[in-house]
Amino acid sequence: MSIQNLDERYSKLVAHWNPKSPIAEAYRTIRTNIQFAGVDREIKTILVTSTGPSEGKSTTSANLAIVMAQSDKKTVYIDADMRKPTGHHTFHVPNRKGLTSYLAGQAALDEVLQSTEIPNLLVIPAGPIPPNPAELLGSKRMTSFLEQLKQQFDYIVIDTPPTVAVADSTILATQVDGCILVVNAGKTNRDLALKAKQQLENVNAPLLGVVLNNKEIKGNNYYYYYYGEKQNNPNEKKGLFSRK
Ligand SMILES: Nc1ncnc2c1ncn2[C@@H]1O[C@H](COP(=O)(O)OP(=O)(O)O)[C@@H](O)[C@H]1O
Ligand SMILES: [Mg+2]
Repeated sequence: MSIQNLDERYSKLVAHWNPKSPIAEAYRTIRTNIQFAGVDREIKTILVTSTGPSEGKSTTSANLAIVMAQSDKKTVYIDADMRKPTGHHTFHVPNRKGLTSYLAGQAALDEVLQSTEIPNLLVIPAGPIPPNPAELLGSKRMTSFLEQLKQQFDYIVIDTPPTVAVADSTILATQVDGCILVVNAGKTNRDLALKAKQQLENVNAPLLGVVLNNKEIKGNNYYYYYYGEKQNNPNEKKGLFSRK
């Protein structure tokens, strides 16, 4: 599974704004692979992580959630990166109440579920930054939260912090049906990626596969010829979810 470099033609939420682009198609391939991986066991909760910061966890998880929703599956995107939350910016939802508020007992489920303009896609923002993210994510309340969401949604896509610096994603990885490790072609250190994989295997996390993000496509944009269409509308990349 690989995602090429998203150049300036594309918004971060390319699967929504440029659904016919080859990059959106690549996210749909990831969706298909996950659906096939779920032949023998149900895969509803999917965690996305990577070794370090800025490797594409949030971009990958947001677009994956979008293509899941586009396939008529009721989907929720959870921003579980309580240390560097971005989901509320990406989807333009308020962050006053979110996952941390729910886990701290300060908000009910329906107060933290935010609708987006994408049909079938709801978002749970991270909420106010807490002093103890790992403890919250490892809590019994988190387990029952995921169980409740499984009753209501077909897919639950969880954006998390990097594996190497903090334990949060490894803790959550034991509670989900599948994990995806994002490896950034230009950035991720090979040894650290292997270490992250080992870390997930050590806790018996169900690793589904690796997404190679930010792959440079060399040559002369050959894919446009293949897809027969040039996505070049400058308006499409303005304000990700801004209302027109
Ligand atoms: N395939 C890609 N091509 C170009 N830019 C990308 C790609 N994936 C992510 N980015 C950009 O890199 C930055 C970090 O990505 P992000 O998904 O927020 O990483 P993380 O969640 O791992 O910190 C963002 O500005 C994002 O738009
Ligand atoms: Mg992120």
